[in-house]
Amino acid sequence: MKNQLEQAAHAIKSAKKIVAFTGAGISVESGIPPFRGEGGIWNTYDPIVLDLDYFFSHYSQAWQAIKSIFYDFLKDKKPNDAHHVLAKWEANSRLEAIITQNIDNLHIEAGSRNVIEFHGNAQRINCTDCGLLIEAGKWTFTEKTPFCPDCGGRLKPDFVFFGENIPHQAFLDSQQAALTCDVMLIIGASGEVSPANRIPELAKTNGATIIEINPGETLYTNRVTDIYLKGAAGKVLSDIDTALQ
Ligand code: APR
Repeated sequence: MKNQLEQAAHAIKSAKKIVAFTGAGISVESGIPPFRGEGGIWNTYDPIVLDLDYFFSHYSQAWQAIKSIFYDFLKDKKPNDAHHVLAKWEANSRLEAIITQNIDNLHIEAGSRNVIEFHGNAQRINCTDCGLLIEAGKWTFTEKTPFCPDCGGRLKPDFVFFGENIPHQAFLDSQQAALTCDVMLIIGASGEVSPANRIPELAKTNGATIIEINPGETLYTNRVTDIYLKGAAGKVLSDIDTALQ
């Protein structure tokens, strides 16, 4: 591991443009379960609740699950060491951007600024009728099934549902970042969901060195990854940060 760690630190030190690609695993040390694998959300809830057609045809049932998974549970969660190290590297101009699949807002709360939200952000809730934007952090769910306080219309969290397009600007920005970086960090991502899972491959085909941080091997490890650091994101990123001093 030390050798891998030293290799990763050397690649980061000599990089011109580093981009991080993060998945649910980076938030596990904040107390947020991943979607898949041990303790995964999809072991408890049916992913259908995030299917766009189901959401609009079973509005109340979908919102019950979405409220407990993404609002009741996420409410008091804080960034962990992994989020803070990435924010520090951005502040020191070591990290150019973060492309995140996560909708938990923890990169922003840690102080990262150039965060490309590939799957949107649960902190924003939109009315599908009048377009009212509600900030989830400042909103109390009075009803079991929420409706727009202004027009009574149906509310949808501003994150990407299965069957929904990726926000266009986020898609373009992610491609641009993947095609111009010379190191990409894959942190806590299983590689199971497209089109997000294409981003590290894009960086790889463009000649970037891929450093992967994950306690377990993934679809990337033997195909895309150049340096695999086995372990939890907070611990490994802190170790790399120490090695960079
Ligand atoms: N540190 C780093 N990685 C971790 C940790 C940890 N402490 N704990 C778990 N992991 C890893 C798991 O080994 C797994 O590879 O994080 C990964 C989480 O995988 P998923 O739950 O599939 O999360 P993600 O890759 O982000 O899923 C992609 O699927 O359901 C959709 O929209 C959802 O954005 C999500 C997408």
